[in-house]
Amino acid sequence: MERHETDILVVGAGGAGLSALAAIPEGLRVTVLSKLYPYRSHTGAAQGGVSAALANVEEDKPEWHAFDTVKGSDYLGDQDAIKVMCDEAPEAILDLERKGLPFSRTPEGKLDQRPFGGHTRNFGEAPVRRACYSADRTGHMILHTLFQQAVRRGTTFHSEFQAVELVIRDDVCRGMVAVHLATGKRHLFAAKAVILATGGYGRCFAVTSNAHSLTGDGMSMAWEAGVPLQDMEFVQFHPTGLHPLGILITEGARGEGGILRNASGERFMERYAPTIKDLAPRDLVSRAIYEEVKVGRGIGGGDYVHLDVTHLGSKALEEKLPDVTGFVRTYIRRDPATEPIPVKPTTHYAMGGIPTNIHGQALADGEGNVVAGLYAAGETACVSVHGANRLGTNSLLDLLIFGRRSGSDAATFAADASLASMPNDAGERSAAFSSKIRANTMGPKVGELRHRMQVAMMDDCSVFRNEEGMTKAARVIDEITDDVQNVVVEDKGKAFNYEMMSAFELQSMLLVSKAIVHSAKRRKESRGAHSRADYPNRDDKNWLNHSLITYESQSAPKFSNRPVALGDFEPKERIY
Ligand code: FUM
Repeated sequence: MERHETDILVVGAGGAGLSALAAIPEGLRVTVLSKLYPYRSHTGAAQGGVSAALANVEEDKPEWHAFDTVKGSDYLGDQDAIKVMCDEAPEAILDLERKGLPFSRTPEGKLDQRPFGGHTRNFGEAPVRRACYSADRTGHMILHTLFQQAVRRGTTFHSEFQAVELVIRDDVCRGMVAVHLATGKRHLFAAKAVILATGGYGRCFAVTSNAHSLTGDGMSMAWEAGVPLQDMEFVQFHPTGLHPLGILITEGARGEGGILRNASGERFMERYAPTIKDLAPRDLVSRAIYEEVKVGRGIGGGDYVHLDVTHLGSKALEEKLPDVTGFVRTYIRRDPATEPIPVKPTTHYAMGGIPTNIHGQALADGEGNVVAGLYAAGETACVSVHGANRLGTNSLLDLLIFGRRSGSDAATFAADASLASMPNDAGERSAAFSSKIRANTMGPKVGELRHRMQVAMMDDCSVFRNEEGMTKAARVIDEITDDVQNVVVEDKGKAFNYEMMSAFELQSMLLVSKAIVHSAKRRKESRGAHSRADYPNRDDKNWLNHSLITYESQSAPKFSNRPVALGDFEPKERIY
């Protein structure tokens, strides 16, 4: 194994990793690992916008933004962290603008803003224009702006390095083992601080807006290394995935005036959210689509509805929504200017993840103790600003604010720390797995097992859940976890062994799926994106707390609770 030493190791080079990087002062040794080339990171797929109460086009305030975020989270978001995020949002946007991000503008030249689901004026009165955007390529522009800054600083990226094992001993993070895809060689990175910024896990599910690379790597490595995961039951399903593929059709389309219609052409969201209609939060809209489908009002009796943007006109579509217009034309050969877009909920975002405080430090338990030297930011982390349901545009904001904070805190930590000793068995677990499956000659292929897992998660642990379905899904995940030891990789070579890489990703997704299913089974209420047919109501008396799930290799995972940081906004019934 080739050995390296560094002060700060950033794992993942999407928006969160690059924001962290930007906050680390020059002078420290920084190493960045990325499974992809940085500009292929999934931040680049975020479309519709990033929120900040700039009040450029109408009155707005950070307190209104905070209220919407707390209410959107179904009161499970930590109000201290939400306040930090909403207060720091305007400066973060202006900082991106100064770095050269080409935001869309008003005719007078100000940064333009558009409405998005759940964002309202004056504590819920009506939708507000809060999302700053760059047509429907906002994430792409953020990613490239931050990447250019990293290149300007002379950052060295270790691209196409797959992180496979996080090394933690005695609650001190010591580094990471990674495989270089081009050579198959294993590398051990000893670091004073590690920042995990590896994104989400959408690929655990059969229908998703997520890229193939989103396999929960950071969460699973941290979990296996003894760090608890928080609120894993809360998985966001974006209401408008392009049917049948699941590709994201931005909520910005509804922000620009798009309307959801059922088989009879009815604007059904008027019944589910009379005040803000199509701009209700995602959990509510996804459930509404499932309900329409269940009673036979899906298009042609199928499992999808229509998103109608035909009335916006070609000029607005080309200017404001060029990418999604192109996706629809390319993937299903329809012109959204003249025909409605078929859409259905698609797995989109992880509200849960590695628990952190507002400095990005990973938490070791529900009491607020930290794992020394371990940080997490972006979708892999759970600060928690999204609670049980994230509002659209708050993910880009989260990664900007808490990416920056984790980079800054990690730098302070690393400046005073010395390298902790590396245990002799570092990397043995991942090496044993690759030797074992390399030697297998008969058994299932990675793709077969992955498909079984994805179908089980989609069928029994998605928008609506119940005990029976989740018990079944948990059993399937356990069976596949056993089977994965017998998996056969036909490519026995070292260089660019994508089959081996997929086997590691499958192992990671199985761990994450296990955490999701068990957390969802345990939470006996419905809150935000976690909707149980057998427990249809929110139960603040018993469940207004974060769940922490701890990995046990030989038995069922263990649970504990962490209190929610309450604040100005008292839990209330969520009506839109
Ligand atoms: O709909 C969208 O453009 C997605 C945005 C988000 O997930 O924040």
